[in-house]
Amino acid sequence: MTISLTGTGFAALATAALFAVFATPACGSQAGAGVATTATCPPNNTLTYASFGEPFMKTYCLRCHSESVKGAARNGAPDDHNFDKADDIRSLAEHIDQYAGSGPAGTNEIMPTTDPKPTWHERQQLSQWLACGAP
Ligand code: HEC
Repeated sequence: MTISLTGTGFAALATAALFAVFATPACGSQAGAGVATTATCPPNNTLTYASFGEPFMKTYCLRCHSESVKGAARNGAPDDHNFDKADDIRSLAEHIDQYAGSGPAGTNEIMPTTDPKPTWHERQQLSQWLACGAP
């Protein structure tokens, strides 16, 4: 009896694990993601992390996507998506572009989910800055 219960429990766990693997698509292919904006880095780019990226993230994203924001205060923002540092932003650049950026292929207004929200111009700047490698 004990053995068969354990077996059932294991089977249920294994099924749940398999389901989790197949039901969780890679971040970039998520149904909720917008378009890759195809923005390019302007040759005369002046945007830097200090002049643009940091204040942009502070104003529009860090209230949910920060290492210092925990639990319910994140409003559901994934724990692995924090934009506190330039390196974090660079490694998630494609996702950021697809959720909040704007460029030739389109404008993504999925993020942020609440006000204040960036202007169209700021979204254009975001995608260009990311295309420059978020210097
Ligand atoms: C009010 C809280 C909140 C704010 C502010 C916010 N987000 Fe989010 N973010 C979420 C939630 C909740 C999710 C998970 C739901 C989803 O993926 O659509 C999410 C998901 C994301 C994802 C996708 C993660 C994945 O798994 O693919 C990205 C990228 C993202 N946010 C970027 C941003 C950017 C960039 C900003 C600022 C312009 C921002 N968010 C502002 C709550 C927020």
